[in-house]
Amino acid sequence: MTLRVIAIAAMDEARVIGAKNALPWSIPEDSRRFFSLTKGHAVLMGRKTYESLPARFRPLPQRRNLVISRSPAQLAQDSGIEVHTCACELIDSARSGAYALPSDKLWIIGGEQIYRLTLPYWDEIELTLVSGRHEGDAFFPEFENNFTLVGEEVHEGYKFLRYLRV
Ligand SMILES: NC(=O)c1ccc[n+]([C@@H]2O[C@H](COP(=O)([O-])OP(=O)(O)OC[C@H]3O[C@@H](n4cnc5c(N)ncnc54)[C@H](OP(=O)(O)O)[C@@H]3O)[C@@H](O)[C@H]2O)c1
Repeated sequence: MTLRVIAIAAMDEARVIGAKNALPWSIPEDSRRFFSLTKGHAVLMGRKTYESLPARFRPLPQRRNLVISRSPAQLAQDSGIEVHTCACELIDSARSGAYALPSDKLWIIGGEQIYRLTLPYWDEIELTLVSGRHEGDAFFPEFENNFTLVGEEVHEGYKFLRYLRV
């Protein structure tokens, strides 16, 4: 089984993805798309993104929740998640088959630190480009030099863009 590592994110025209550990916008259609695309797969996230999830969606249901933290003991009480200290080792083990995942897709769901850390591993990006510029303190890394746009779906106020690694 060949593993596909796919980043999924929503960023605005200033590359903002977050503000004060929350999303700067609410786009129900984008949330629905996120849930439908990632359902049944493993999702990899940083500890801050995990803690930013609304209580009823933490852990994200019907997905394997993999959380990256340097202090796994602090998340030991949380059930329904697997805590790892090294995202890159985890992806390497999943790619080699040594670490079994529920499917052939591993979704990288943020935030900024985890996107930056895992960018060299991405095969695809599902990016929602939100119109306008928002106040924010978390940003999506530059990826454009290594990826090509293969799909675009335009909506009022946002676009769904799909990129593949060149
Ligand atoms: N728009 C979107 O698509 C989207 C998606 C996801 C998140 N977000 C936003 O992004 C923001 C959060 O992003 P963030 O960059 O602040 O945090 P993050 O990437 O979610 O999590 C950061 C945490 O990951 C762990 N970590 C990072 N690098 C590590 C490494 N090399 N080794 C081990 N653990 C490591 C650390 O956890 P410990 O501190 O526990 O060690 C660190 O504090 C929020 O505003 C959120 O709403 C937006």
